[in-house]
Amino acid sequence: MVNIAILGFGTVGSGVAEVMRENAQSIAHNAAEEIGVKYILDLRDFPGSPFADWMIRDFGLIESDPDVQVVVETIGGVGAAYEFTKRALLAGKSVVTSNKELVATHGHELLEIAKRLNVNYLFEASVGGGIPIIRPITQCLTANELDEIYGILNGTTNYILTRMITDGAPFADILKDAQRLGYAEADPTADVEGYDAARKICILADLCFGKSVDPEKISVEGISRVTLEDIEYARRLGYKIKLLGRAYRLPGGHITAYVAPHLISKTSLLSNVDGVMNGIVVHGNALGECMFYGAGAGKRPTASAVVADVIDAVKHRKARKYLGWDESEPGYLVDAGDVRTRWYVRTGSGLSDIGRAFGDVRLISYPGEYPGAGPGEYAFATPELTGRELAAKCAGMEVRSRFRIL
Ligand code: HSE
Repeated sequence: MVNIAILGFGTVGSGVAEVMRENAQSIAHNAAEEIGVKYILDLRDFPGSPFADWMIRDFGLIESDPDVQVVVETIGGVGAAYEFTKRALLAGKSVVTSNKELVATHGHELLEIAKRLNVNYLFEASVGGGIPIIRPITQCLTANELDEIYGILNGTTNYILTRMITDGAPFADILKDAQRLGYAEADPTADVEGYDAARKICILADLCFGKSVDPEKISVEGISRVTLEDIEYARRLGYKIKLLGRAYRLPGGHITAYVAPHLISKTSLLSNVDGVMNGIVVHGNALGECMFYGAGAGKRPTASAVVADVIDAVKHRKARKYLGWDESEPGYLVDAGDVRTRWYVRTGSGLSDIGRAFGDVRLISYPGEYPGAGPGEYAFATPELTGRELAAKCAGMEVRSRFRIL
């Protein structure tokens, strides 16, 4: 019998306790031994909870209990979660987490501690919720040189963009709905402004390309400036607007990573990843392209990935799983503004200004043709330009939106 402790009894932590109890038999079969929850750490009271007997408030009890071999960290953030993770690893326990902020920020350090202590630090649930993506990258695809990874990494923003497209309602209205339905947090900043997706693409870039990418150092743009006009122009071009996290190799061993809204072709698989679902595309030199699709958030899908990691940690008590990356180097991360891409631009400037700056571009729509378009408004697609080149060309123009085209 192996004992575990759960830190944090919020949405994910309580999901883990539920799945552990509900699937106890099959989990024991898959792990080749029984796994029991011995403690649940939370400062709050949960009267009447079926797990009330396991509740404690003192992490020291878990840290000093040799019976506890795996700790599940579902507290979130980089405060207590960071301290308790470090202490648990240093006490010789494996740690499993869904905490993308902690993995993206301190993953390198925590994995180094785990390596030194010959224990595991596993985080399948930190990207894509219940979608298997960490293991495929670190196990199934290791024969490849991976050169690109991108995807829809945030369920809340994908839900909002999908409803803007299907209902024709503006961002602010759909955000209120998403909050009412429990998809978006009361403070939706991390989702809406792209920070959550930034943490996830950095973890994926760390694993795919082998060096740390700091989420504070990549360019991050959320969806709050996507308008119904942009969605309509994109539709006319045969595209949908989706928030993507994207990282890829550049010549010379450099990489770039960023989060931004993109126009993606309606013929691509990713364009059909709608609502709260996530989709992640990986490109490898032997495999070609491969897409992972599924529930990227939510109590039980996330618990599914956490509990699978618990089983793996139990099965690998004596063998460390290889998981890790090196520290970054100066010049390794290239600013996304210096990388060429095609752009969609919506502008209030006239045709002569557009022609002067861009030459003969492909106009998407003409003024007055779409009722939402303001007078004298044009939208067009550019050839490949860096973000800086685009900004220089647009210097004298009134730009209302500009998004990358994938
Ligand atoms: N807030 C996140 C999302 C939860 O909407 O995708 C999963 O990381």
